[in-house]
Amino acid sequence: MAGALARIAVVGAGLMGHGIAQVFAVAGHAVRVFDSNAEALRSLRERIARNLVDLGQDAGAADRVQPVAELGEAVAQADVVFEAGPEDLGFKRKLFEQLQLLAPAHALLASNTSVIPITQIMQGLHTGHRAMGTHWWNPPFLVPLVEVIKAPHTDPARAQQMATLLAAVGKTPAMVEKDVAGFIGNRLQHALWREAIALVADGVCDAQTVDTVVKASFGRRLAVLGPLENADLVGTDLTLAIHRTVLPAIDATPGASPYLQQLVDQGRLGMKTGEGFRRWTADEQALLRQRLLQHLLAMNAAEAA
Ligand SMILES: NC(=O)c1ccc[n+]([C@@H]2O[C@H](COP(=O)([O-])OP(=O)(O)OC[C@H]3O[C@@H](n4cnc5c(N)ncnc54)[C@H](O)[C@@H]3O)[C@@H](O)[C@H]2O)c1
Repeated sequence: MAGALARIAVVGAGLMGHGIAQVFAVAGHAVRVFDSNAEALRSLRERIARNLVDLGQDAGAADRVQPVAELGEAVAQADVVFEAGPEDLGFKRKLFEQLQLLAPAHALLASNTSVIPITQIMQGLHTGHRAMGTHWWNPPFLVPLVEVIKAPHTDPARAQQMATLLAAVGKTPAMVEKDVAGFIGNRLQHALWREAIALVADGVCDAQTVDTVVKASFGRRLAVLGPLENADLVGTDLTLAIHRTVLPAIDATPGASPYLQQLVDQGRLGMKTGEGFRRWTADEQALLRQRLLQHLLAMNAAEAA
C-alpha cells in the first residue's frame, strides 16, 4: 500500500487496537503495534489471524502487522498513529506528549477514547493541529462507523484526510464538528442506557424485559431508520406532542445511577463475574457473542449485496 498515509501505527494491542490494526492490514497497509504488555504483543498476530479465519478472509494479512516493544520504534515512520490504550486521561495526555516528539512531524495523531473530550487529552500539545479523535466501535472490523472528532486546534484539512483514509479502508466516517464528551454515538447510546437502568431501579420491569422491549421494537428498525428520520416519518408535530408528555417523566439524573453503583459495589460486574443486571452462564455468554457476530456479518453481507 503506497500513498500519503500508508504507514500506520497503533498504540495498545487490546480489544480495539488489534481490531484497528486488522482493518488496515486487510486493506494492504503496513501496521506497527506497540503495547507495554509483552503478552498482548506476543498474541497479537494470532488473534488477528483467528478473526480473519472466522470471517472467511485470508489470514495472511496478519503478517502485515508488526508487534514492536518500543514506542519510539513503533511510531518513528508512521503517517498515522491510533491510540487505543486504557481509558485514562492521565495516560492519554502523557502518551500524546511523547507521540508528538516520537512520530514524524507530518503524522496524524488520533485517540480512540470512548468519551473523554479530545481537547482535554491534547491540552499540552504544541502540534495540536494534527491531533484529533477517531472513535471506532467494537469490533472495529465489523462495525462500520468511525467518528472523527475535531478539537478546536485540529486542522480541518487533516481531519478530512483522516476521514478519507478511513473511507478508503471501508469504514463509514462521521465528522464530529464540536468536541463534546461522548461525541455523538456514546451520548445517544448512554442516554438510552440511563433510562434503561432507571426503569429497572424504579421497578417498572426487570432487566431482561428492558432488553426484550428494545430488541423486539425500535431496535429492529434502528439500522435502517435513525431517530430523526423516524421523527420525520411520524411527523415533527406528533414528536412534539409525545415529548411534552414523556420528557418530564424520563430520568434526568446528572450523574451515574446509584443502582449501577450498587451493582459494582456488590461485585456484580456483568459477564466477567457471571452476574450484572442478570446472571450469565458461560454457555449463555458464548451464545450471545456468537449471535452478535452472526448478526453483524449478516448485516454487512446484506449491505454489500
Ligand atoms: N471496548 C470497546 O468497545 C471500545 C469501543 C470504542 C472505544 N474504546 C476505547 O478504546 C481504548 C482501548 O479500549 P480496549 O477495549 O481496547 O481496552 P483493552 O484493555 O482491551 O486494551 C488496552 C491495551 O492497552 C495496553 N496498555 C496499557 N498500558 C499501556 C501503556 N502504557 N502503553 C501502551 N499500551 C498500554 C494494555 O496492555 C491493553 O493491551 C479505550 O480508550 C476505550 O475506552 C473501547
